Amino acid sequence: MRALVVYESLWGNTGQVARAIADRLGSTATVDVVDSDAAPATVDGYDLVVVGGPTHAFSMTRPATRAEAVTKHAAPHQPARGIREWLDQLERPSTPIAAIAFDTRVDSPRLPGSAAKAMRHELRSLGFETMVKQETFRVHGYEGPLLDGELARAAGWVDAVVSTVAR
Ligand SMILES: Cc1cc2nc3c(=O)[nH]c(=O)nc-3n(C[C@H](O)[C@H](O)[C@H](O)COP(=O)(O)O)c2cc1C
Repeated sequence: MRALVVYESLWGNTGQVARAIADRLGSTATVDVVDSDAAPATVDGYDLVVVGGPTHAFSMTRPATRAEAVTKHAAPHQPARGIREWLDQLERPSTPIAAIAFDTRVDSPRLPGSAAKAMRHELRSLGFETMVKQETFRVHGYEGPLLDGELARAAGWVDAVVSTVAR
């Protein structure tokens, strides 16, 4: 199996989850991990695509929310291209490819909205097989860190995904 993990991250929390997912996938697959700025224009040739990013303003980030993260909240990194723009530019796969989405969000049950839900919707529109539900991993505040146990939970999620995709 060949897997591609594409992530976007301003403070590094989503990147940590992406690497935990890639490490776990590495036991059953050949894995490439790239951030959204370096992500390819086509994913043909992969058997599984994993897409992850932070939730900003209830959905995927936008140029304005990424700029706000840096100017108002001192985020250390501002991706030039987020997952939203990468998906906008991504070629439709020539054969159906399994895809899963995850996001990071603050640890507040009162805040609605999920970047991963929007990602999964976009992936489905592009023709990906999106039978596995999106997953959310929680951070403390805007900058993190991740809550205890989230990286282990990410690894467990991947195990469940692999068994579903391989079926
Ligand atoms: C401008 C902005 C808007 C945000 N909006 C939301 C939101 O609607 N819901 C939420 O749960 N978290 C929100 N957050 C918090 C981010 O989800 C959090 O910073 C992110 O998970 C950290 O991941 P990263 O380290 O990979 O950037 C927002 C953060 C910023 C900077």
